[in-house]
Amino acid sequence: MEPLHFTQSHITPHCLAKRVILITGASDGIGRTLAVQAAKYGASVILLGKTLKKLESVYDEIVSAGYPEPAIHPLNLLRTEPKHAYELAESIHGMFGRLDAVVHNAGISGQICQIEHLTPEKWQEVLQLNLHIPYLLTHALLPLIRIAVHPSILFTTSDESHAGKAYWSAYSASKFGLMGLAQSLHQELQTNTDIRVNCINPGKVRTSLRVKAYPGLDPLSLPTPEDIIHHYLYLLSPEAKDIRGKVVTVEPVNHSEKAAVLI
Ligand SMILES: NC(=O)c1ccc[n+]([C@@H]2O[C@H](COP(=O)([O-])OP(=O)(O)OC[C@H]3O[C@@H](n4cnc5c(N)ncnc54)[C@H](OP(=O)(O)O)[C@@H]3O)[C@@H](O)[C@H]2O)c1
Repeated sequence: MEPLHFTQSHITPHCLAKRVILITGASDGIGRTLAVQAAKYGASVILLGKTLKKLESVYDEIVSAGYPEPAIHPLNLLRTEPKHAYELAESIHGMFGRLDAVVHNAGISGQICQIEHLTPEKWQEVLQLNLHIPYLLTHALLPLIRIAVHPSILFTTSDESHAGKAYWSAYSASKFGLMGLAQSLHQELQTNTDIRVNCINPGKVRTSLRVKAYPGLDPLSLPTPEDIIHHYLYLLSPEAKDIRGKVVTVEPVNHSEKAAVLI
């Protein structure tokens, strides 16, 4: 295991200039912060999320800051079928002609309980959103990613991707599956394309997902999305073109400084 230290100093002012980046779950939490910050560093971001109002508020924040105008693509990923993924690809093709990066970020924890109490519907929802959707969108978007320069596909994993945890069976299973998907895709693309496929495990971050799952936890004890977002920005930038097939784990150091570990 080789420790890697990404700091804010890895991020140059125009490191994402003219990059077209799709972010799923861009309406809240890590995805929202990533969308605003990626735009700040020059990217045209495509904001995908469930709640239109929240997406519009991210759009407004980006536009009023004077960053490149984003695109909004509201989609309930629990109800997304293959045709919706192809429509998204067509729409990106029409607007931008290519896709430089996709961040598979949208995720839910689902019902946190013993397996015998976990309903089949709730199991299915977590697998749909956290695992099936990253496959479906990757499948539909690959032709647009292939024609980009130094493209990047980033999957969001978690501590539960490596070790199952009591009461978190659906989430763990989905995140284990995501690792398998990412590793397979990396092997398929590593020799004859420059598409880099990586995973990022953001660690414990102060978002609704984390706070709802651990109501006894003091949210102020957790780093904010802003504290960790430079890891994402660096991985999406062309400077990280040689980082391929890795899992970058954001390790807690303190709230303002985080270390990434590559495995
Ligand atoms: N926070 C942590 O400590 C932590 C740790 C490890 C891994 N992660 C991973 O990091 C990623 C982001 O998590 P987060 O903590 O930022 O979560 P969050 O604050 O709850 O945000 C989740 C995002 O996913 C979107 N989403 C949820 N259901 C959706 C649906 N049916 N259709 C479309 N979009 C949907 C949400 O949109 P709406 O707001 O419109 O519902 C929101 O934008 C997840 O993959 C999570 O597993 C988080």
